[in-house]
Amino acid sequence: MLSRRQALTAAASVVAGLAGGALAQRPAAASLVSAFAPKRIPYGACVSFEPLQSEIDYRDALQTYCQQLTPEAGLFWGWLRPTAAQFRFDYADAVLAFAEANNMAMVGHTLVWYGAMPDWTKNIEGSADAERTMTEHVEKVVGRYRGKIKTWHVVNEPIDEANGDTPGLRPSVWLSNLGEKYIDVAFRIAHRVDPAAKLFINEYDLECLDGKSPKKREAFRRLIHSLLDRGVPLHGVGLQGHIRGQYQIDRDGLYDFVAELKTLGLAVRVTEMDVIDKELPGPIVVRDAVVATRANDFLEPVFAAARPECVATWGITDRYTWVPTWNKRSDSLPNRPLPLDANYRRKPLWDVIEYYCNK
Ligand code: XIL
Repeated sequence: MLSRRQALTAAASVVAGLAGGALAQRPAAASLVSAFAPKRIPYGACVSFEPLQSEIDYRDALQTYCQQLTPEAGLFWGWLRPTAAQFRFDYADAVLAFAEANNMAMVGHTLVWYGAMPDWTKNIEGSADAERTMTEHVEKVVGRYRGKIKTWHVVNEPIDEANGDTPGLRPSVWLSNLGEKYIDVAFRIAHRVDPAAKLFINEYDLECLDGKSPKKREAFRRLIHSLLDRGVPLHGVGLQGHIRGQYQIDRDGLYDFVAELKTLGLAVRVTEMDVIDKELPGPIVVRDAVVATRANDFLEPVFAAARPECVATWGITDRYTWVPTWNKRSDSLPNRPLPLDANYRRKPLWDVIEYYCNK
């Protein structure tokens, strides 16, 4: 739990940072320096299907702020594959159509994950069956969007919860049937189907200064090395950034990790940032300031170590966020993890993102 003193220090530092530091350093007239400034880094968000279809303010917000989108759940097996024989592309196609109409990139999330699996996949048995099922899926999905989805989160959340000292791979139907090589298979097929696509491995809980993140980061680091040693076509690493707001960010550990990825020739993306505010103080002005501070403390070492390809959040508005599914507040106040509030007003978190995207 964040003490009151920590909360106030965090709040003060973000306010000072935005008013006198970070924002003040931005060039007043971007056009004057555009010839020298690196290109803006795209900001992206995941998209909920229902409001995309029914809510004009939601679409407006995506159009106003985003240069990149991904369906929140439209490429999950649980959505795409209600039965083994069926593929249901309506959700992902709708996000792609909206992205293309608005000149935004579309990111594919995700091909192989332990989560959101339909019940029929429990019947997958043995390595041949697993490899055949995965191959069919990746061929069909990557093939359909070849040349349109240029970046894929191929394998999502491969590392287990860091309960023990050295977390291993996370249990899944893929791990139990194929062993660690399930990761190799997924990347190799995706690469064969769309050799131009950039293929990422995506993970969370890499950034907190607590008992778990450093162990998880180390296990992830070892996995990345072994994939590269085996010649797996891995192009980059996604830092999800579901920041647990009650902890400080392990700035040094994060910097070293990202710097190492850069040395290995891997690209880096911030793929799903939000700040889980379950245990943060209730008052909105304080809570929003701590949320912005945590995001700044996360993005600063990442950007210092390697320029990420994008900064994306998992949703754009507090109106539609997965955070309360697992992280409801005990005071019953609504969660505020995202850059826009439930009425689409910009929060301090937005200013932090905007600062880094223009850096
Ligand atoms: C979440 C979605 O936001 C929810 O709607 C769904 O019920 C479960 O999955 N890490 C990920 C995302 O990579 O796919 C997860 O998305 C959030 C955590």
